[in-house]
Amino acid sequence: MATRSIQFPPTFSWGTSTSAYQIEGGGTNTDWWRFEHAPNTIAAEVCGDACDSWHRYEEDLDLLVQFGLNSFRLSVEWARIEPERGTISIDALNHYRNVLEACHARSILPVVTLHHFTLPTWVADAGGFENPEIVDWLANYARVVVQELGALIGIACTINEPNIVAVMGYLLGFFPPQVSDNERFVAVNEMMRRAHVAMREALREGPGDFPIGMPLSMQEYEALAGGEALLEEMRDEMEDKYLRAVDDDDYVGVQCYTKLLVGPDGVVFDPPGEKTEMGYLFWPQCVEHTVRRAASFTSKPIIVTENGIGTNDDEQRIRYLHAALKGLQRVLDDGIDVRGYFQWSLLDNFEWTLGYAPKFGIVSVDRTTFARSPKPSAQWYAQATANFPASVSGTLP
Ligand code: BGC
Repeated sequence: MATRSIQFPPTFSWGTSTSAYQIEGGGTNTDWWRFEHAPNTIAAEVCGDACDSWHRYEEDLDLLVQFGLNSFRLSVEWARIEPERGTISIDALNHYRNVLEACHARSILPVVTLHHFTLPTWVADAGGFENPEIVDWLANYARVVVQELGALIGIACTINEPNIVAVMGYLLGFFPPQVSDNERFVAVNEMMRRAHVAMREALREGPGDFPIGMPLSMQEYEALAGGEALLEEMRDEMEDKYLRAVDDDDYVGVQCYTKLLVGPDGVVFDPPGEKTEMGYLFWPQCVEHTVRRAASFTSKPIIVTENGIGTNDDEQRIRYLHAALKGLQRVLDDGIDVRGYFQWSLLDNFEWTLGYAPKFGIVSVDRTTFARSPKPSAQWYAQATANFPASVSGTLP
């Protein structure tokens, strides 16, 4: 294992989170693009130009400056950097170098994810996460990224929500490659952990002294009568096996949105209570819960790499963020080592199979002109993070 010094940011990271495919537009060379364009696809609509952030990234970064945030989580697109096996696009690397330099020019720490849901078509065609060669392919890709961009990376995330890629793609069939098979789902989770380690070790070859981790999707779980055993089984596969494997990472990335109720027949859809646009329970308490749970497995620093709410009701978003940050304050008060919080998301963007209907952004994006308009929640988040923790000590006015 490579050894090197690690530089954590000196101050708490307040940011927003995004991913390449969801905001850049034109991610044509990916499995997702193909999935959206397939006959009889279950995708609500195509990603198309997304938020055109490929061209408008400086506008996006200026918004962060306007909101007083010090960090930005973005991803680089493997399909652009390595459009064919072994062929590296200098143009794509130059683009991402410009993006990272534009972050630094604004004193914004770039938190860079290498894989966020999408695969180049050449990888998907060769079996994707079911072909063991993907471990080497991802490690080689990580090596290219670090050699070219490592000196500009603030924090690195290897694979975003590997457990969601596995469950949605290989058990529930809701994401490409639309498989529904428990054995294959479990095998993909194992492959994810292997790929993560290989990528982490490649990234450690440097240059760069940034911390490296893997953002995990976590839930608050509640068992209904008779659902206890199933809950344990599900959580073990989705979370615990990953949390037991992070000891050699530099930090743990926690991403959470809601609470799941588990009955004897599985997850209860449409549970009673306030809902979000995604049909999820309105459950900002999940931040406190999942951070405490992650901390019970490891003493590594924790970063909340994603948390937010899909809603058209911006007042509901403010209530959500307020309660989420209150929970964050409680875990910090208890001495849990949380280093950052990243709201999902800066912009209303492409919400995968559901298309553009769900609104996760604190900034709306005109679907024709791509004009960005900050919502009241952006203003609220700017003030809350500037005055934290005083800003969340009471109830909302
Ligand atoms: C993913 C994002 C997604 C968000 C909201 C996370 O699972 O990392 O890509 O948009 O949740 O659903």
